[in-house]
Amino acid sequence: MERFAFILHPLRQSDFTRKYPILKAIPFRWVEEAFKHVPPRVLSHITGIESQTGAQAEGWFIAVPMTPRVLLETPFEKVLPQIVQAGRMAEELGARIIGLGAFLKVVGDRGVSVARALSTPVTTGNSYTAGSALQGALLAAARMGIRAEEAKATVIGATGAIGSVCARILAKHVAEITLVARNRERLEALQEQIAPATSAEVRVSTDSRTAVRDADIVIAVSSATDVLVEPEDLRPGAVVCDVARPRNVSSAVYEKRNDVLVIDGGVIRVPGENVDFGFNFGFPPKHAEACIAETIILALERRYECFTLGADISVQQVEEITRLAHKHGFEVAGFRRFERAIPDEEVEQIRRNAGRAGAVEPPKVFTG
Ligand SMILES: NC(=O)c1ccc[n+]([C@@H]2O[C@H](COP(=O)([O-])OP(=O)(O)OC[C@H]3O[C@@H](n4cnc5c(N)ncnc54)[C@H](OP(=O)(O)O)[C@@H]3O)[C@@H](O)[C@H]2O)c1
Repeated sequence: MERFAFILHPLRQSDFTRKYPILKAIPFRWVEEAFKHVPPRVLSHITGIESQTGAQAEGWFIAVPMTPRVLLETPFEKVLPQIVQAGRMAEELGARIIGLGAFLKVVGDRGVSVARALSTPVTTGNSYTAGSALQGALLAAARMGIRAEEAKATVIGATGAIGSVCARILAKHVAEITLVARNRERLEALQEQIAPATSAEVRVSTDSRTAVRDADIVIAVSSATDVLVEPEDLRPGAVVCDVARPRNVSSAVYEKRNDVLVIDGGVIRVPGENVDFGFNFGFPPKHAEACIAETIILALERRYECFTLGADISVQQVEEITRLAHKHGFEVAGFRRFERAIPDEEVEQIRRNAGRAGAVEPPKVFTG
């Protein structure tokens, strides 16, 4: 039996009030401040994971009770001991690899200091986040009747850790790609690297709103704290994969545009008849976020190493984790938006609203 742990944190008020309803009566800011001093705790025991190779894994969710605001506002030197304490709890439970959830890998140095302080390998899960965002975006585009090889794509945050690897891979599958960020010099350097390796036209832009205007596929993965894409910016039938946290796409797009498909990224089905996460983190049963899936895949593969740490993610890492996901029976199985699953019928309706013809086959982005 392989063993892993995944350290996560509450994202919103309901993550506290679900367990302690009385906290609804107290201003959320007070709750956040009080809980940031509470030590990490084991949330659940994860059982029933079984790869199609026969390998089995069990794990634990461990919570650091800090919200995104607290994590972003607290100096990293004060956050780090909490994450390391959670990591030590994971080690005591027998975990041989530890994944970092949500903002725990955004603050500080993307897991490097956490890994240094522990004797167990740590992964951020960002390689599979990138791979599954691409798979999710291209699958969603195909469901919307968009042929990738004829499509115009835009990557917002293209020079970032996740954005640049997404742009490198996506450029091989579309007709045109626009790379967006604020720093033009870095954009042009990336354009120079990508252009020789693709037949797609590669453009750069520092204006995200105009850069998405004629895009069929948008991957939004910038670290901007303000919304960058508004409802009027998008063409009918566009697919937008908003990986960024906080989101780059205004929630008004979802409210006002019934002809645009906005997704959070791919939802991953975890293999095993009796998978039980022991905790409701808002996903359908047996499904998880890609960063959780990356941690489990590495355990099943006995790859007890710091697979994804820091800011550099290579195409090879994304290809490898996606190949291992396929080997162990993990797959992108639907879409989510604002923490809710999007039913197939809704995707169909959005496609019809956009006046697009029927679904097409998605391109094969990664070889199995
Ligand atoms: N959903 C998930 O599971 C998940 C997992 C990991 C990370 N994330 C999120 O993904 C995002 C990117 O993470 P990362 O680690 O790749 O970040 P990163 O390496 O810091 O890259 C950020 C990118 O955004 C660009 N950018 C920042 N502000 C911008 C603006 N106002 N307009 C246009 N571009 C802007 C940066 O370039 P310039 O500075 O030149 O503008 C850079 O290209 C973050 O929001 C993070 O929270 C989500």
